Amino acid sequence: MPPARRNIVFWIFGGGFIGSLISFLYPVVRFLNPPAVSEASVNEVVGGKGQDLAPNAGKIVKFGTQPVLLIRLGQTEWRAFSAVCTHLSCIVQYDAPRKLIWCACHNGQYDLSGKVIAGPPPAPLKEYAVHLRGEDVVISRS
Ligand code: FES
Repeated sequence: MPPARRNIVFWIFGGGFIGSLISFLYPVVRFLNPPAVSEASVNEVVGGKGQDLAPNAGKIVKFGTQPVLLIRLGQTEWRAFSAVCTHLSCIVQYDAPRKLIWCACHNGQYDLSGKVIAGPPPAPLKEYAVHLRGEDVVISRS
């Protein structure tokens, strides 16, 4: 085979091999070194209209990328906590009959100030501030 043809064959097969190698290695490198995802800088969100949540009820609201448990205790008393359990990050819920915050994963229990009262959670839930703006229930970082 003449040298010029050999070079062409070398570049075709060599380029294909290098392209294949890059296409296999690039996802592996991206998996091992993922881009930093910054948390959305949200300082407050509207959790809904006041009349949409009955007294002694709770619901999960998105606060940026984080779930927050919004609880309406009475006509004018509201609370909000991070809905991420401090044990193994399950999503907590409001237990209306027992008036506490409950994590179904390992029966973790928090009181209505976010303090751990039973189960394995090692730390209290982070509390958010809640206030009414017109009819809107506004949750903000406290
Ligand atoms: S994850 Fe909540 S108690 Fe274990």
